Amino acid sequence: MCGIFGLISKECLDIGEIALEGIKSLEYRGYDSCGIAFQNGGKLTVKKVSGKINDMQKKFNLETLSGHLAIAHTRWATHGAPTERNSHPHTDCTGDIALVHNGIIENFMELKDELKSKGHIFKSETDTEILPHLIEDFLKEGFNFKEAVIRTLKRCKGAYGIAVCYTKEPDVIIVARKESPIVIGIEEGKISYCASDIPAILPHTRSCYILEDDELAILQPGKAEFYNIQNSVNKIDKKPEYINWSVDDAKKNGYEHFMLKEIFEEPTAIRNTLKIEMKDFQIFAKHLLSADHIYITAAGTSYYAALAGKYMINKFLGKYIQGIECSEFQNNLIGALEKNSVILAVSQSGETADTIEAIRWAKKTQNDIKILSITNVVGSSLTRYSDHYIVTRAGPEIGVASTKTYVTQVIVLALIALEIAKLKKAISKEEIQKYYDALISTPDIIENFLDKNIHSVKNLVRNLEKNINYFFLARGISIATAKEGGLKLKEVACRFIEGYSAAHAKHGPISLVRKGFPIIFIAPPDETYERLVGNVMEFKARGGYIISVVSESDKKVTELSNVTIRIPQPSNKYFNLLTPITFIPALQLLAYYAALEHGLDPDKPLNLAKTVTVH
Ligand code: F6R
Repeated sequence: MCGIFGLISKECLDIGEIALEGIKSLEYRGYDSCGIAFQNGGKLTVKKVSGKINDMQKKFNLETLSGHLAIAHTRWATHGAPTERNSHPHTDCTGDIALVHNGIIENFMELKDELKSKGHIFKSETDTEILPHLIEDFLKEGFNFKEAVIRTLKRCKGAYGIAVCYTKEPDVIIVARKESPIVIGIEEGKISYCASDIPAILPHTRSCYILEDDELAILQPGKAEFYNIQNSVNKIDKKPEYINWSVDDAKKNGYEHFMLKEIFEEPTAIRNTLKIEMKDFQIFAKHLLSADHIYITAAGTSYYAALAGKYMINKFLGKYIQGIECSEFQNNLIGALEKNSVILAVSQSGETADTIEAIRWAKKTQNDIKILSITNVVGSSLTRYSDHYIVTRAGPEIGVASTKTYVTQVIVLALIALEIAKLKKAISKEEIQKYYDALISTPDIIENFLDKNIHSVKNLVRNLEKNINYFFLARGISIATAKEGGLKLKEVACRFIEGYSAAHAKHGPISLVRKGFPIIFIAPPDETYERLVGNVMEFKARGGYIISVVSESDKKVTELSNVTIRIPQPSNKYFNLLTPITFIPALQLLAYYAALEHGLDPDKPLNLAKTVTVH
């Protein structure tokens, strides 16, 4: 996710100040590097930094900049580290075209090779840079600016929200959208604005045009024309929408909190993560297949993602993977870390001090060790200390409690597991395809669940309001879901929870159960189901208030439960393996509404920080 802002005006304005304010209000979409291009008297100037918008402001004194056109960008790196070179805007060979982009051009490698063979020189490692060069090529062929942009976009696979300017047409910004948002605001007859999201436009106008997929707009001072990219001859008649949100509400896209917004972003985060190139998973799979010893390490939510992933990978790998919390990594392995080991480290921020320390210690102790990592942040410390890394595509997560990053971490681990199954021929091709099909349908399952279940989860929370203690119990792979779901309730709603094995809970924890004690059972119909039914009965017999999370067609656990949350998914082994992904939104929602019920801010849990950089 990145933020785009642009403006074009009849009069000369303080464009530097306006553009900076614009991208600052989009900083929640990304903040690892930024840049601006502005035009003055037919000359295009581009300024960029690796760092925050304030750094750019100080470095270039941009508040003093006046002019009539600017496009600006705040980046969340996906292709290429957050360096100055990789920051947007990107330009063509002539320096006449500047372009900012949010999204991913999936076929950029082929297009880059083709452009290089025609003599184009590239300055960055980004997918974006192919866009101004392609436009340059079409302009050279004699197409006008609009047609050159359209032809360029038609050659691209993937997602884009773009804004582009060209010195030979100084009174125009072209914007276009496919899967990445673009909004347009018009101050009639004076100024036109474009942005990735509404908050950037709101200080200037409440009348916004929202571009749909495959639409393109030509912005001129105080007016806009709209076209369809696939059929660009005739203009489209588009009506503006009146936005009455506050700027703060708009950043949360109308959601009351970032946590809720980020839960609802999970389907998109998963779809984007599913687009990561297969070769990355193959590299991980090959290392895991050839290793003698494998460890997986992480902290908090990432550790629970690791536990779910470890179970998935073990299933096909036929070798045991040891999961160790990062803070105890060294204590467990001192004197025992052997040659030909692989460490899989998981961290959304890529900066957790204990995770970094664990892998640095391991590298120092056994120099042939391989570090493979999964993170959400390109250029983070974890990526620098790793031999190979995969970056999830959840986009920036603002809520302190991890939600969408968790599901994308588990998706990546599931894809590694399937790659191992393929390489090892552990199961038939048909079976592998069935697992992939199930994986691809996880975003739809979550979307469907979120669409229909908000009210039932809210009601459940109201009934539970007085309880302070909870058990979250499960067996097999779902123990990870129980622990993660419980952690969410603990951190955002300040309830005491124990996330535990349902079988093991009778060796102690069960002594706490009295009439009405809430116990949440995670009960997919997998190989552990029949025994879990027995555990549910044990807790029910002692007066427990049973809440179960089950698949759509469940009967036995449902009959034993006081309340059931049903996840709309088929009951078969392919979907059962993926329940750490599809069942978790229910528990995240439960935690979210419980926080509200107790008057707490779910985005800022007490005593917690988003990134923990102390030991
Ligand atoms: C819980 C949460 C934390 C983090 C933990 C590790 O919602 O967010 O438990 O998961 O601090 O952080 P990362 O994944 O950045 O290493």
